[in-house]
Amino acid sequence: MKIFIDTADINEIKEIAGWGILEGCTTNPTLVSKTGRPFRDCVQDILNIADGPVSGEALSTEAGGMIKEGEEWAKLDPEKVTIKIPMCVEGLKAIKGLSERNIKSNCTLVFSPNQALLAAKAGATFISPFVGRLDDISHTGMDIVADMVELIEYYGLDSKVIAASIRHPLHVVEAARAGAHIATIPYKVLLQMVRHPLTDAGIRKFYEDYKKIPKPGESAKKP
Ligand code: G3P
Repeated sequence: MKIFIDTADINEIKEIAGWGILEGCTTNPTLVSKTGRPFRDCVQDILNIADGPVSGEALSTEAGGMIKEGEEWAKLDPEKVTIKIPMCVEGLKAIKGLSERNIKSNCTLVFSPNQALLAAKAGATFISPFVGRLDDISHTGMDIVADMVELIEYYGLDSKVIAASIRHPLHVVEAARAGAHIATIPYKVLLQMVRHPLTDAGIRKFYEDYKKIPKPGESAKKP
């Protein structure tokens, strides 16, 4: 399972890229609005830092407009830019149009296996089920990730499933178990994934014991 970061905050992306684990980045208008910066500036900066797919968003309500926006976004970096297209009839038409133009798309706001099947048939590069938002309304969000992966792989479709709306570290483990091709993970959750109380206690203990070791030429210290 690949790891993307779900943020528009450049400092967060720089930090995680520095860990050597970052394989792509997703954003959305809500995340970009938190930065107070224009969408295009954010995406351009992210493209300069992150390897792998980086998402721009189409906000038109009809397919022609979405495709036009996709063409504009793709000029920034035809290899890396991926256009997020909402799941709807016009979105499906746009995904088809973008695929014919060799522009990558990410069908977003997907909440059912049927929606995923349609997006995959239309030619979506990525499909993003929003796990946390289903959990919010008392559905087990991760179940649809497993269903989508099964459908896509059984029928040999090309789309990759991105487990999105990840809220906590267990979601990441469950996404991996469900066979998600990618999980897009908020910065806070990536930090939580690193930490373990036994690791922290172990590091402290090794450090304290290291200080007790005599330096060359020193006599042995008493414990
Ligand atoms: O990747 C989708 C994500 O940004 C939505 O997350 O927590 O707003 O449901 P959330």
